[in-house]
Amino acid sequence: MDEGTLTREVEGTTATMRRASVSDAELLHQWRNDPAIVSLSTSQRLVGWEEHRTWLERTLADPQVLLLIVLVDGQPAGQVRFQPEAESSSNVSIYLMPPFADRGLGSLVLRSACRLAFEQLGSRRIVAFIRSDNARSLRAFVKAGFRRAKHSAPPAHDAFELERE
Ligand SMILES: CC(C)(COP(=O)(O)OP(=O)(O)OC[C@H]1O[C@@H](n2cnc3c(N)ncnc32)[C@H](O)[C@@H]1OP(=O)(O)O)[C@@H](O)C(=O)NCCC(=O)NCCS
Repeated sequence: MDEGTLTREVEGTTATMRRASVSDAELLHQWRNDPAIVSLSTSQRLVGWEEHRTWLERTLADPQVLLLIVLVDGQPAGQVRFQPEAESSSNVSIYLMPPFADRGLGSLVLRSACRLAFEQLGSRRIVAFIRSDNARSLRAFVKAGFRRAKHSAPPAHDAFELERE
């Protein structure tokens, strides 16, 4: 994907995405351990620097994983990650840091990022597991075109999916 892929403008705000690189290690570590993100994570735990570096290097080296940094008006705002889930199927996770959420950007970013994942990873289906009490995220995924799936989901989560057109 080219750096600076345009998603769309929302009321004068422009969201773009670029692939993550090792130079994002500190930024991603800081985000991963932010209380807002920890509280939404499945494990609910902090991640140490060495563990994070090892994870990032493995993630960046894996051609089946797409890790994107979202920029809002050029400022790093969050991440979208796709990783293999089953044959021809990827799992997506997304977050925007609090100042950038709730402005109508998440669903647009998600839609553009999924298009990229279909193109670049060759996936035919993208699956998301969303906490059942995360009404904002459920709504954002539906706005991005996802539908509730029959797929099994972790406890207290709902499965949603988007098929390649
Ligand atoms: C999930 C996330 C990426 C969505 O991005 P966003 O920019 O906030 O989403 P959008 O503004 O595009 O859409 C959110 C929708 O939910 C609605 N919403 C917000 N709070 C809500 C609530 N408490 N209950 C129901 N709907 C809610 C918004 O009004 C909007 O819908 P609308 O446009 O029809 O009014 C972002 O909120 C986020 O990063 N949250 C924290 C991390 C997270 O939950 N990640 C997802 C894990 S699966």
